[in-house]
Amino acid sequence: MSVTLILGLQWGDEGKGKIVDLLAEDYEYIVRFNGGDNAGHTVRKGDEEFKLHLVPSGVFYPDKTKVIGNGVVVNPETLVSEIEMAESRGYPMKRLFVSSDAHIVLSWHKIMDGALEQTGKIGTTKKGIGPAYSDKASRTYSIRACDLLLPEKELKEKLLRIAAHKKKLFSALGFPDFDSESVVSGLMKSAITIRPHVADTQFILNDAIAKGKSVLLEGAQGALLDIDHGTFPYVTSSNTTSGAGCTGTGIPPQKIHSVVGIAKAYTTRVGEGPFPTELTGSLGEEIRKVGAEFGTTTGRPRRCGWLDLVVLRYTCMINGVTEIALTKLDVLSNLKEIKVAVAYEIVGKKTENFPLDLPRLAKAVPVYETLPGWEGDITKCTSLADLPKNARKYVEYVENKLGTPVKIVSVGPKREETILVNP
Ligand code: IMP
Repeated sequence: MSVTLILGLQWGDEGKGKIVDLLAEDYEYIVRFNGGDNAGHTVRKGDEEFKLHLVPSGVFYPDKTKVIGNGVVVNPETLVSEIEMAESRGYPMKRLFVSSDAHIVLSWHKIMDGALEQTGKIGTTKKGIGPAYSDKASRTYSIRACDLLLPEKELKEKLLRIAAHKKKLFSALGFPDFDSESVVSGLMKSAITIRPHVADTQFILNDAIAKGKSVLLEGAQGALLDIDHGTFPYVTSSNTTSGAGCTGTGIPPQKIHSVVGIAKAYTTRVGEGPFPTELTGSLGEEIRKVGAEFGTTTGRPRRCGWLDLVVLRYTCMINGVTEIALTKLDVLSNLKEIKVAVAYEIVGKKTENFPLDLPRLAKAVPVYETLPGWEGDITKCTSLADLPKNARKYVEYVENKLGTPVKIVSVGPKREETILVNP
């Protein structure tokens, strides 16, 4: 029996999808606990590929139980389209459960997200995530998955009451209008598909753990996008750190045995906000091209930069990371030398601690160590010993600097392009 939590240690897009899908083979329950369809990951099996935003990564395993936990905000249209897509391709979704406590993202959340972006740019995915979590926190104007089980008339009345409030608010703020009836009819239609999946997942998960089943908790986004611990305000609206694995599922902390932190061998970020090791010139562009660094959800080009150990030390600390999966090492092949930030200098003062306020972070100048690069294609390497000497040294360097074992090294997008260290 084991409960493992996986999360990204940077600003998201660390390649979690592949690692979760790889580990999913060994787990019976695969669970999302935060975020919504702002997340996006690609999972592959042979030549088959799924681009998912909401459904947990174990889509290729119909026999496994997939859970969307209470901490997730659910866009019903996205959920229905992912269920239909998987089923039409021969992967039944009968074992997908959506927490009755999960809040629903509606079209007015998206309108509000777009309108708020005009007034202060965070660079959101415009999926309505922030406004949906705001409604959850303010408690009065939110619909939860359990509401989809209400008699149709009751649900309709509830929606129309919220719609009337939103209309007043939007008109006062000069936000675009919406058609209440089409929101209602859209949700009623989605509800037909979603209803059979709604369940009290806190009980499903704790019963499973009590019976010795294995559970994989799959984090969305990355630790520095956490609303409390990230680079506020340039963050998402949920907790993306390991504690959310408990609050977003109802699994108690002492039941979680290991925390796998996913770190890309370099750093990327989408959206606005400070990024000390960003490479704004041709090298950054080259990494973006080789690493195909374009958002799965929005298609936006990702900002690219060197690996930042100041970031990783902080995110390993706050998440209690027990092991690391280092991804996309192949993207760094054929560089003459590779830089890694080991500290920052902030107005002449050196620090190894990640600055927790924006003004200090904005002034942070990375202190780099330079490592020699390696040449050639490493995608066929299946063990650390197969790697060119300098690539192996890079992995060992990261491991030593973080004092945390690197257990997985990803050397290409395919499942088999993975090194399992002492499997
Ligand atoms: P929101 O989550 O759409 O509100 O966007 C807030 C910030 O989080 C923006 O900078 C987004 O680009 C970023 N973000 C949200 N989801 C992801 C993700 O899955 N990967 C990377 N960045 C994300």
